Amino acid sequence: QRAQQPVVHDPSSGMWMVFDYDGVQRALSDWKSFSSQRGRPRGENAESALSSSIISTDPPRHRQLRALVEQAFTPRQVRALAPRIAELVDELLGQVEGAGRMDFVLDFAYPLPVIVIAEILGIPSADRDAFKRWSDAVVTGDPSGSREMAAYFGRLIEQRQYAPGEDLISGLIAAQVEEEHLNAQELLGFCILLLVAGNETTTNLLANTVRCWQDAPEAYARVRADRTLLPGTIEESLRFRSPVQSMYRVTALEVELGGQTIPALSPVLAWIGSANRDEAQFPDAGVFDPARTSNRHLAFGHGVHFCLGAPLARLEASVALDAVLERLPNLRVVPGTVLEPVQSQIVSGVKRLPV
Ligand code: HEM
Repeated sequence: QRAQQPVVHDPSSGMWMVFDYDGVQRALSDWKSFSSQRGRPRGENAESALSSSIISTDPPRHRQLRALVEQAFTPRQVRALAPRIAELVDELLGQVEGAGRMDFVLDFAYPLPVIVIAEILGIPSADRDAFKRWSDAVVTGDPSGSREMAAYFGRLIEQRQYAPGEDLISGLIAAQVEEEHLNAQELLGFCILLLVAGNETTTNLLANTVRCWQDAPEAYARVRADRTLLPGTIEESLRFRSPVQSMYRVTALEVELGGQTIPALSPVLAWIGSANRDEAQFPDAGVFDPARTSNRHLAFGHGVHFCLGAPLARLEASVALDAVLERLPNLRVVPGTVLEPVQSQIVSGVKRLPV
């Protein structure tokens, strides 16, 4: 089906769906044809803050914004977080140790990335619980929670302008490219983007990997016996059960793709989850193989918008899953569990995972 009809038009929604590897790669990276900026709503809430963030901007503006945030969010700074992430993983696993049973999502995979991001942003620990509630509100699109969060960040940003610290918000305020700084709206948009783009995705990466192990016990046995297979396991999990299934674009001009002519200003969904199962790119695409040699998956996107948080997500996953292999031997999903998927066209994961 994917090979015969790589691009499909859905007349009821007007949406153009791209399913094959080459088409998805192009839709994600050819920003002159597939815009991230067009057709985004603008208003007075978290959504509007997002519309002025890097993920909803095309070059040349995108290049400037990305250069600014990259100054404050470097791979080196991310690597320095490893010991703190290990401590948090230890604490979270310690809380369930001996119980014989836990909810892998609620007890572990969900809190970990939220706490890590809160610490990176320098959220005072007294505000941690409210912060968790708001970040849920932003992700589920609850407007009052999102407004509270926007107001909270507004105050925090103001405070850091007067009294900078070692945190990411202070770094973002100080960042400068060609004498330009981020304005208040852009700062707010970036903080909210980190929550929306970084939390649920990382939660799902962790829980989806456990599901991959459950469905491929032989692959689980191999990585337990040989931890050097863990990085390959994480990449294969990203490919096989991609946490982000699709990304949205709008055509800036008429585009030929997959034998179709897509008119200008058409909405397009690039199906990352489908591209990552394309047999033309991945032999035996339906097999979970942690030792796959060439794994050029698109789980973190491609091109100018390539995930800024990929080093952080990979680090969190490797520290967390290494500890899981060490401390939770014979991890098994509770038999008979009916898994409830997260309701979303964009992210793929489950709400709970009793193990
Ligand atoms: C962009 C996936 C974790 C921050 C993206 C994109 C994808 C993605 C597919 C490209 C969007 C596009 O082309 O429009 C993921 C996955 C993650 C993850 C699967 C976890 C497994 C994170 C984390 C952070 C983060 C932990 C930050 C803390 C961002 C940002 C962008 C982005 C800021 C926008 C980059 C730009 O527009 O230049 N992510 N992400 N992500 N991600 Fe991630």
